[in-house]
Amino acid sequence: MIADREQFSSKVGFILTAAGSAVGIGNLVGFPVQAAKSGGALFLLIYVVFVVLICVPIMIAEISLGRSSKLNPVGAYRTLSGNSKLWNLGGALAVITPFMIAVFYQVITVWILGYLIIVISGDLDQLATPRYFATFINDGAIFIYMGLIIVILAAVLGKGVQAGIERFSKVLMPTLLVMLLGMIIFVLTLDNAFLGVSFYLVPDFSKISPTVISNALAHAFFSLSLGMGILITYGSYLNRKESIPRGSGMVALADSLVAFFAGLLILPAVFAFDPEIKGDELASSSITLIFTLLPKIFLALQEHIGYLGASFFAGVFFLSVLFAALTSQISILQVPLSAMQDELHWSRLKSLVILGIVGGLFALACTASFGMVKQLTDLVTYTGQAKSLFDVIADIFYETILPLNGFIICLFVVLKWKRESMNRELQIGDDSYLGSWLHRYIDIALGSFLPVILFLIFVNTVCIKFFGFSLI
Ligand code: PHE
Repeated sequence: MIADREQFSSKVGFILTAAGSAVGIGNLVGFPVQAAKSGGALFLLIYVVFVVLICVPIMIAEISLGRSSKLNPVGAYRTLSGNSKLWNLGGALAVITPFMIAVFYQVITVWILGYLIIVISGDLDQLATPRYFATFINDGAIFIYMGLIIVILAAVLGKGVQAGIERFSKVLMPTLLVMLLGMIIFVLTLDNAFLGVSFYLVPDFSKISPTVISNALAHAFFSLSLGMGILITYGSYLNRKESIPRGSGMVALADSLVAFFAGLLILPAVFAFDPEIKGDELASSSITLIFTLLPKIFLALQEHIGYLGASFFAGVFFLSVLFAALTSQISILQVPLSAMQDELHWSRLKSLVILGIVGGLFALACTASFGMVKQLTDLVTYTGQAKSLFDVIADIFYETILPLNGFIICLFVVLKWKRESMNRELQIGDDSYLGSWLHRYIDIALGSFLPVILFLIFVNTVCIKFFGFSLI
């Protein structure tokens, strides 16, 4: 099994595939929304500090766990812990988490495809009508879009890691970058766009708060695909010739740059559309901004470039988000897939079919939790709000659990696998690692403040999300 495991074809292949996982809806939409809410460049600053000081070490640890064991997360925790029951729980969490994230991410990816198809069919004006989104998410056509996405994902995943996932990411990622830069250049030529640039780039320090800080960390974890078992899994396909620290640095840089660029696209577009828009108004927006506000902004572009031009721009935007979402979605599905193949010894095809059926059923239930099925729509109530199945999954697996998974990784490396084993793995492919300042920093950080910070943020998020109060 170990000997014939597939590998990424090259360093660039690995970096683009891991960046494909990291760059997703979180970067293109989540980041600008968070930045708008949380003091523009202030959020950016806190975010970058977290990426460098907290996320990169965890990323390096995850990739080395994967490469050393050459297994999925369940197998990695099992073999490297000598099959300890306690540590196997970490492996289980590292597979359940991506499965559940894939479920809610699937719903959003399906909406994006739906919007793209509607724009291509010439109906951008419909998307821009008030309350269109509410109708759209309960329309039967959703199930057709869902079927299409499942076919695309299965086609890529079915081909395997190198011929499927890597090839797909190698085409989509550079294309995405070109489209993004093209859109930014265009938007910056619009009147008032620079109001958006200064709103984005001038930090508003009055916005700093414990919630902003914990949001920035949770978002950085999500954005870099940490705590989801993805990097353990991708690490297991990484060649021993490559340097894990350098690869991780490149992935983190690519991910942060795309997030930064997305802010430079969306905020100026919002201000060009409405220069009077208040920071507070933006602050109340959420990820659904792309389905509600953005279509209006795109339609307004017809003043400058006509209806066809505006539709073209909207099409390029939704296509970029779709590309970003698909490369993330395949990375996250590869986690349960490789767990089924390694642990249960199922063929890739059998694993794919079973994952498709189980995941598809969950995704259908989530899709129906926006009003189609009452019991799923009003599933539970906490902090005084009725929550749907989609909300509950997002609250637990998007907002809360990732720092906990990061905390478990720190403990695992320090207490069980041991930092010396990790360092030995890191030295392979990178002769200069041992003795470097990065080595010293990671050794200290993993065994001291990183787990403490991650645990505190986890506990505080549980308090905020599920009990309605903040500890700090
Ligand atoms: N990094 C992704 C994003 O920013 C997060 C993610 C990865 C979500 C993989 C789902 C699957 O959107």
